[in-house]
Amino acid sequence: MDHAATGQEALARIAGADDLDTLEALRVEFLGKQGSISGLLKTLGKLDPEERKVEGPKIHALRESVSEALAVRKDTLETAALDARLAAETIDLSLPAPSTPRGAVHPVSQVMDELAEVFADLGFAVATGPEIEDDWHNFTALNMPESHPARAMHDTFYFPDRNDDGREMLLRTHTSPVQIRSMIQQGAPIRIIAPGRVYRSDSDATHTPMFHQIEGLVIDKGIHLGHLKWTLEAFLKAFFERDDIVLRLRPSYFPFTEPSIEVDVGYSSQGGRRVVGGSGDAPGHAWMEVLGSGMVNRRVIAAGGIDPDEWQGFAFGIGVDRLAMLKYGMDDLRAFFDGDVRWLSHYGFSALDVPTLSGGVGTPA
Ligand code: DAH
Repeated sequence: MDHAATGQEALARIAGADDLDTLEALRVEFLGKQGSISGLLKTLGKLDPEERKVEGPKIHALRESVSEALAVRKDTLETAALDARLAAETIDLSLPAPSTPRGAVHPVSQVMDELAEVFADLGFAVATGPEIEDDWHNFTALNMPESHPARAMHDTFYFPDRNDDGREMLLRTHTSPVQIRSMIQQGAPIRIIAPGRVYRSDSDATHTPMFHQIEGLVIDKGIHLGHLKWTLEAFLKAFFERDDIVLRLRPSYFPFTEPSIEVDVGYSSQGGRRVVGGSGDAPGHAWMEVLGSGMVNRRVIAAGGIDPDEWQGFAFGIGVDRLAMLKYGMDDLRAFFDGDVRWLSHYGFSALDVPTLSGGVGTPA
């Protein structure tokens, strides 16, 4: 039997197959159960041993070469198919992205950037601290010893285990521990803001278990309340982009400041929206609390490893979410954290709308 001729013909046909279906048909024709070469293999059993010795290797070699040719051709055709697809499916990077659904910068992120921009202009650097804190940084060093009643007011989330220093671990209830960390790390003088997430076990329309604060801390020589008042006024005017911002400073109490002051801004309601500006005592106006502040308590400065006889300072803590609600007119804090793209596309900002003092920190997208 002329296996060589059969082989040559098979190989020629395989080489000539110009698509994968044709090639598969050839594989079945030659090597399938009923295939011609499979048929040849079956004849071996009927041959006598001498003949089989001669024919066997030939038929096996034929099958080898055909299946090898099939594999090579398959690889070639697949590569060509892939190349054709890649050529046909190239992405045109110059095409504009689809407009919906579109990502947006969350108002909290935007307001944090706005605050950082305003305070950077006043010479403040940005500091950070861990969200998983120990009770020394979160409470004790801030003049709240274990028995202090203010601890109970914080609705703290505690972890079951203490850390290696035997301190209780918790989710920080405010950004104030960053004051302590900054003092210990960099010593005096200091001028920082510390934005970040804080946690309290609390939930209703104006409270969420996670919310955002921004802490401010200035430590220097000869610092007094006048510096605090001027800084807050300059910040609020720049943030709301209005010159008619009026502050009311009210005496208050925080363990970490002495004296402590709560700051209200005057506002009026226009079309159901609160608009900041003017004295809260003016007709149609009212006061709204926006932040807590005060002169840093001597004991806190000492806990930060700084000599309170030499250095003084002021500090403030602002609720970022509240400030965002006030500036951009949202009324339910919980919607901030629902992750609803419809809410975000309404209240969110374009990624290109980076707040700058020259371009404006207050213009919604
Ligand atoms: N840590 C306070 C809170 O979460 C806010 C605060 C008040 C921070 C007065 C301060 C401050 O730095 O001086 O309620």
